[in-house]
Amino acid sequence: LFAQECQFLLGVADLSALPPGDLPEVAFCGRSNVGKSSLVNALTGRRTLARTSNTPGRTQQINLFALGPAGAPRLRLADLPGHGFARAPKTMVTAWTRLVNAYLRGRAPLRRVLLLVDARHGLKSVDREVMTMLDQAAVNYQVVLTKADKVGDKALGDMRARVTGQLADHVAAYPEVLVTSAETGAGMPELRAALAELAAP
Ligand code: GTP
Ligand code: MG
Repeated sequence: LFAQECQFLLGVADLSALPPGDLPEVAFCGRSNVGKSSLVNALTGRRTLARTSNTPGRTQQINLFALGPAGAPRLRLADLPGHGFARAPKTMVTAWTRLVNAYLRGRAPLRRVLLLVDARHGLKSVDREVMTMLDQAAVNYQVVLTKADKVGDKALGDMRARVTGQLADHVAAYPEVLVTSAETGAGMPELRAALAELAAP
């Protein structure tokens, strides 16, 4: 699947602009600057597919990408704006949060949400809020630790174990926590395999 084509479809700031839900979708969500857009690029091997930035709040719309043969895509990826970015104007943050939450709760073709969490920082309160919301909406999600290259092996193992323990009470969470680095490509084969299973035949 990931050896095939991948193309940017469109960015939407409004749920009514989303394409029909005729293909399975996987969403990348998490705090601002956690590495959502970078992970989309690393997965697809296309450095500039999704715009990334040092400045938190780079992604301001839901950006959709289609994976698979050009005429017959099999999976859509949704790169979401970050949760909890405090430096943007408050009205903008409210608008993004509302958009993302409505998408996450109500998007029918959504097969899995990847909740990205910085491997140095672990789960924050905004992550728990998203998890609780997804539990209540019965939307499957999987925690993906990002920026693993910034953490030593011991600390990484400890963080993974800690986060895995924190998932116990969350009914919609996958028990397995993935560990990735967009920088080194660590964890990409595992993540690609997981997503390939969700794609349309
Ligand atoms: P928003 O769109 O603002 O919510 O951010 P985002 O979650 O899409 O983050 P983005 O991919 O733009 O990355 C933010 C910063 O983290 C950029 O400077 C990236 O280069 C850096 N970054 C992302 N992934 C990694 C990684 O695996 N390792 C390292 N070292 N840096 C990373
Ligand atoms: Mg982004």
